[in-house]
Order: sequence, then C-alpha cells, then structure tokens
Amino acid sequence: MNGHRYAVDVPVGTSLAAVLRDELGLTGTKVACNEGHCGACTVQVDGVPRLSCITLVHTVEGEVTTIEGLRDHPLVESFVRADATQCGFCTPGQIVSAAALVAVSPAPTRDEIRHGMAGNLCRCGTYPKIEEAILHWRD
Ligand code: FES
Ligand code: FES
Repeated sequence: MNGHRYAVDVPVGTSLAAVLRDELGLTGTKVACNEGHCGACTVQVDGVPRLSCITLVHTVEGEVTTIEGLRDHPLVESFVRADATQCGFCTPGQIVSAAALVAVSPAPTRDEIRHGMAGNLCRCGTYPKIEEAILHWRD
C-alpha cells in the first residue's frame, strides 16, 4: 500500500476502509454512507478506483493507493487553486478518482470528467469547481 507492505490480522469480513482507518491509521480515506453509494471512501487498486467501504480486505490483491499516497500529485494543488472544496469530506475520494482518470486520460474532456467522476458525490455541490480543478490539473 502506497509503496509499503503492511501485515494486519483482522477477521474475515473486515472492509478495506476499516483496515485503512482503524488498523493503519490512514484516516485520509473517509467513510460516509458505508454502503457503496457516495464514493467518499474511494481508493485505487492497481490504479482502478475501488470503494473501500464495500471491499472486503481479504479479497484485495495488488497495490492499494490512498489519498496519503497521492499527497504530491498535482491534482491536490489544482483542487486548492480551483477552490474545489467546502466541507472537504468528499475531497480525498474525489482526488483519488480524478488521479485514476488523468492517469489514463491526461487531458480529459468535460464529458469524460463527468463520466469518470460520476461515482463521487459531493453534498456541498462543488461539482463545477471539481471539474475546473481536473480540467486544469497540469497548469
Ligand atoms: S463511504 Fe463508501 S461509497 Fe460511501
Ligand atoms: S466538499 Fe463537502 S461533500 Fe464535497
């Protein structure tokens, strides 16, 4: 995970989100709905966005990337420049999904952004600014 290996001893049925937050102290990953609806808990597994609240940790194979592993990604600064956060609760998941998007499509169109980010909800309604942040992530 994030370039490191961790050993954890948890019961079968434990979610990846629970391990991240409760076992490893990686609380950048947020849990909101805890039912796979909102995207707040998004991490990447081998570069693909995954909802960690409904992912059983024993089923995970591959490299997990959390928001902590993306602290130096240009998207972080771009979100700040675009003022794309309000309460910030959805922001880690938004950036994790956006990083997966720009990794495969470095110059995404607005349609690609809306499609790629469709799984990440924002109760504060910062969608236009999130879109701007992703459009200009390399500026
Ligand atoms: S907390 Fe995982 S999808 Fe909402
Ligand atoms: S900034 Fe508050 S939920 Fe998105």
